[in-house]
Amino acid sequence: MDKQELLNEYKNVFNEDGEAVYFSPGRINVIGEHTDYNGGHVFPCAISLGTYGVYGARLDKTVAMYSENMEDGAVVTFDLDSNESEKDESRSWVNYFKGMIIYLKDLGYQIDHGFNLLVHGNLPYGAGLSSSASIELLMGTILKDQFDLDVAQLDLVKLGQKTENQFVGLNSGIMDQFAVGMGKKDNAIFLDCSTLEYKYLPLELGDYEIVIMSTNKKHSLASSKYNERVAECQEAVKRLNKKLNISKLGELDEETFDQYTYLINDETLIKRARHAVSENQRTLRAIDAMQKNDLEELGRLINASHISLHYDYEVSGKELDTLAENAWQQPGVLGARMIGGGFAGSAIAIVRKDKAQELKENVGKIYREKIGYDASFYDAEVVGGPQRI
Ligand code: GLA
Repeated sequence: MDKQELLNEYKNVFNEDGEAVYFSPGRINVIGEHTDYNGGHVFPCAISLGTYGVYGARLDKTVAMYSENMEDGAVVTFDLDSNESEKDESRSWVNYFKGMIIYLKDLGYQIDHGFNLLVHGNLPYGAGLSSSASIELLMGTILKDQFDLDVAQLDLVKLGQKTENQFVGLNSGIMDQFAVGMGKKDNAIFLDCSTLEYKYLPLELGDYEIVIMSTNKKHSLASSKYNERVAECQEAVKRLNKKLNISKLGELDEETFDQYTYLINDETLIKRARHAVSENQRTLRAIDAMQKNDLEELGRLINASHISLHYDYEVSGKELDTLAENAWQQPGVLGARMIGGGFAGSAIAIVRKDKAQELKENVGKIYREKIGYDASFYDAEVVGGPQRI
């Protein structure tokens, strides 16, 4: 949808002209999965699939929202002065916006009148490409711009995570909001989630490109399983601390982990912790490989990441496995793995540009035969953070 179409839609819904149009990206993650809340490293980037928002001011204190992606066609309204107890139980998408408003106001930022907002995402909801961080940062960016808020970008990122953790109830790390909020064109972000130190690295893949492979499966169990993994890692830390003194698994290298694994004394917890530790080390090795332009090594690490997410962390599933494992068999593929929280959502493959079409066709066919419905394929274009367009 282009800008004019979005403005037309706004007019259809709200019966007046929209004032400004914004775009906020989604994200993919090259490597470093389930490492963020474990104090490890991640390597994500913002992508050109994301969420558009058309804004128009109101004189009263009402926020009126309309999402083109929701089937009910309803304009949802709530009071600008809503508080943390007023979660929208029937329309979960509204809470990402609402949380951002509440937490910005809690910090003393003045948002003194209501507004209308038309939302249009071309990021499939539940695709594991972080539609939620995309809309949190969309809201933050619009409020910052329209109400002249003197708020740092990193603070918007943190409020996005707070919305997720405290308002929505997902105990997620900071990767998604950081990748979306701090995105830079053609660059991925090498982020240390324990210190928030980061570095942009050009995502130079030469003859290769990243293809996004979406399962089109809705992940209804994902958030409870996600919180379970977070808790399992915390329990592993607690047990390791009978002899060690760490606050997060990301502090351990594989050798140290090996020496003290016996303290965990539980098969499931050992697997979870082993993933957190090994994935963090793989991410560091992947950065090294990128810097040496060793794309084959990067591909092997990406494959190893999938295996670890499958067998140790157990957050994959037959849809994600079908995509990744069949991508490995295709000509010109350096590596493929599931990305994001898991259970559903998307996988990525690094493939030779001239073999990308073949990959999509072959994996698409196998997926349809095995799973019974279609997967979707997208080419990832790496873009900057949220902005007015
Ligand atoms: C989700 C969370 C992130 C991160 C990933 C897994 O996308 O929102 O914080 O933990 O899962 O790497």
